Amino acid sequence: MELQFDALVVGSGLAGLRAALEIPEGFKVGLVSKVFPTRSHSGAAQGGIGAALSNEEPDSWEWHMFDTVKGGDYLTDQDAAETLAMDAARAVYELEHMGVPFNRTAEGRIAQRAFGGHTRNFGEGPVKRSCYAADRTGRVVLDTLFGKALEKGIHIFSEVYMIDLIIEKGHAAGIVTYDLATGAIHNVKAKAVLIATGGFGRVYKTNSNCFSNTGDGVYLCFRNGTPLEDMEFVQFHPTGIYPLGVLVSEAARGEGGVLKNGLGFRFMPDYAPTLKDLAPRDVVSRAIDTEIRQGRGVNGKDYVHLDLTGLGADKIEEKLSDISSFARIYLGVDSATQPIPVTPTCHYMMGGIPTDLNGRVLGKNGTPIPGLYAAGEAACVSVHGANRLGTNSLLDLVVFGRRAGRAIAQDEKSLHFSDVSRDVVKELTSKINAIKRSNGPKPANLRARMRQIMTDCCSVFRNNDDMVKGLEEIRSIQEQYRSVSIDNRAEKFNTDLLDAIELESLLGLAEAILVSAIVRTESRGAHYREDYPERDDHNWLKHTMVTAGANGLEISFKPVKITKFEPKARTF
Ligand code: FUM
Repeated sequence: MELQFDALVVGSGLAGLRAALEIPEGFKVGLVSKVFPTRSHSGAAQGGIGAALSNEEPDSWEWHMFDTVKGGDYLTDQDAAETLAMDAARAVYELEHMGVPFNRTAEGRIAQRAFGGHTRNFGEGPVKRSCYAADRTGRVVLDTLFGKALEKGIHIFSEVYMIDLIIEKGHAAGIVTYDLATGAIHNVKAKAVLIATGGFGRVYKTNSNCFSNTGDGVYLCFRNGTPLEDMEFVQFHPTGIYPLGVLVSEAARGEGGVLKNGLGFRFMPDYAPTLKDLAPRDVVSRAIDTEIRQGRGVNGKDYVHLDLTGLGADKIEEKLSDISSFARIYLGVDSATQPIPVTPTCHYMMGGIPTDLNGRVLGKNGTPIPGLYAAGEAACVSVHGANRLGTNSLLDLVVFGRRAGRAIAQDEKSLHFSDVSRDVVKELTSKINAIKRSNGPKPANLRARMRQIMTDCCSVFRNNDDMVKGLEEIRSIQEQYRSVSIDNRAEKFNTDLLDAIELESLLGLAEAILVSAIVRTESRGAHYREDYPERDDHNWLKHTMVTAGANGLEISFKPVKITKFEPKARTF
């Protein structure tokens, strides 16, 4: 069966939903999601969405822009940071008007709290900029936007996987889908395809990401010849519940929580005298790992404590009730009276599919690929540079999601349906049948090995020798993957098959991360090289682009857009 839409949005998190809502009524829009939309990973975002509303204390969008640039260690494209910070208040009020139930100040304004790296007056001290709904901000925004998508009558295809992206003569032509419920494969034609499939934190063993964050959209663009930008910049959130990696929001520190080492000592003031526990995430994660490496983890183990006992049970219940229940359920810890064991956890990918400010995907020559758009964590605008600030993710999703939806409407005249030259359904059916017939290695084993390798060689600290060895091993797993096999040969609800398909994406993206990380011989933001510990603006103030060429991965570079803030030493 062949289906046809004017615009297809792949991914039903905040970026995909916000984009789909923006595409005008005259367009037939399809929204394809591998999970039921309210299970999208945006729903796990906890601490808030950043905007200089000045509801609790004076703030300005220029300070927000500056923090975004400095937080990103000056790799942030400053036109993107300006767009993000300037549009933030509008975006938050729009969500409020849609019905998002934000916490309120005593006067009834949207309540705001401090978050890592967000400062008043260009770095003087923390500012309350995060607009929040307790510690479930992503959840309530996701539910609200999903409600709006239902009202608008968008065609939603849940538990339908994109297993290929079709590009014909340089124009996006549609996608190939696999329907989990029936096992059916469809060629879905479209004039415009928008990739909003999120990140790929599942490449790592310890991560805060949901099971579905396997980077399918990013990988399929890559496999089709689109470069990927800044893949070496992988964010480790400082406070994942030890040892699971489940997120404990930075909001816990924004509300007054502090980190302590195994000696009971509050160490962050030694690393970041001004912002202390509210320094940007790369700085805090390195501090935690340094404490652990130097033997000051708790009980000699690889974790430290997040101490919320000074907040009082009422504040925890009112503002941090989800994370306090996580601590209770997973660890048996009462966060009002006991510290929570935490360790850095892979949380976010700064890199991804390169786009312009309007979500148009940029191809090898730096110009837009007609009909192809991307937004959210799958995309690299690049607004987060080498390290994203907390609360800028939800903001990115709604600001740049909206702009991508608009761009599809603006580009209408140049968009068209294309004939598909390959029998894509036959190709994908044979690929799936080959997996079902194979007797080779199982995805679970290959995946576990990949995650361990990535965690060992390319986490908070990296060096050339470990990464080169890691890359060899990832490539050897890619070889073994060629004969991957599954036990479940069923047609319907075959999640084993999807595990196998997703593993190809994860392995391809792991390789792209390592190749990019090996090449960048400096330390910047989340990319900290033990063998090159300094930032090197002279040689490395540029974006890394990695492309899948005929003879393997190729690296090229792209200049950083600097408009207002010249790079300076980054102290907090
Ligand atoms: O810590 C957090 O609540 C995470 C927020 C974010 O990644 O923006």
